[in-house]
Amino acid sequence: MNISEGSATACKRLAGRRIVVTGAASGIGRATAELFAAEGAAVALLDRNSAAASEVAHAIGGFVAEADVTDERGVEAAVRRCEEALGGIDGIVNAAGIMATGSLLDMPVALWRKIIDVNLIGTYLVTRSALASLRKAESGTVVNIASAQGLLPNAADHTAYAASKGGIVNLSRALAAELAPHIRVNSVCPGMVDTPMADIHRANVSNYALKRIAQPDEIARAILFLTDGDSSYVTGAALAVDGGRSFH
Ligand SMILES: NC(=O)c1ccc[n+]([C@@H]2O[C@H](COP(=O)([O-])OP(=O)(O)OC[C@H]3O[C@@H](n4cnc5c(N)ncnc54)[C@H](O)[C@@H]3O)[C@@H](O)[C@H]2O)c1
Repeated sequence: MNISEGSATACKRLAGRRIVVTGAASGIGRATAELFAAEGAAVALLDRNSAAASEVAHAIGGFVAEADVTDERGVEAAVRRCEEALGGIDGIVNAAGIMATGSLLDMPVALWRKIIDVNLIGTYLVTRSALASLRKAESGTVVNIASAQGLLPNAADHTAYAASKGGIVNLSRALAAELAPHIRVNSVCPGMVDTPMADIHRANVSNYALKRIAQPDEIARAILFLTDGDSSYVTGAALAVDGGRSFH
């Protein structure tokens, strides 16, 4: 390695860190996996869509573990495969999630349960499965992707989603207390982001101080901050990355 290569590696914010990103086949998870790899991390992409995850992994040199985050045994096995492939796990980004709309009376109970199952219980299962590895890490981090709807619900037909995301905010705070001081746990609360999940044509940008929705990379950079050493004194935070939606 010559000197310029050595200094380039040293400048990378996640050099030497081993990170599992769920939901990494698409959207925010994908942008996070790409940014983290560019910043020197070894990345494992955990997603139910292994074909799409493999395309991302191929481009960034990552490892793919197919799993549905609601499947307890499947998650445990997938996290073990990630640990073996990476040689350990220093951090988790829980970005796998689903969104569906419907009023309290219109949404079937099964769909209500599914939203809670994927978004909230999936986050819990992946984090729990990685806990032993995170405890072995020098400085473990968990970043859970909640939503601006988890801080300040403002849409009449997003009740189940808002409940799941409010749960993620408080799960993150509770875990931050439980796992301190060795493991830091934070949540990121995006407003609308330009991904396949979001119906961006329904975006009312006047709700946002910045008068636009976000690009996935803008959320990934906030997740990077909460994963690297720059946020060494931040735990239990719910970071709004929402262009000012939550105060506007
Ligand atoms: N896009 C937005 O406007 C927005 C806003 C706020 C929060 N979020 C949150 O950000 C996260 C990522 O959303 P996105 O916009 O990138 O969505 P996306 O649909 O582009 O990506 C979601 C990914 O999660 C995976 N996934 C879904 N269910 C899964 C399961 N049961 N097991 C494993 N993988 C599963 C999908 O295969 C996909 O790769 C979600 O938690 C979402 O709620 C999104």
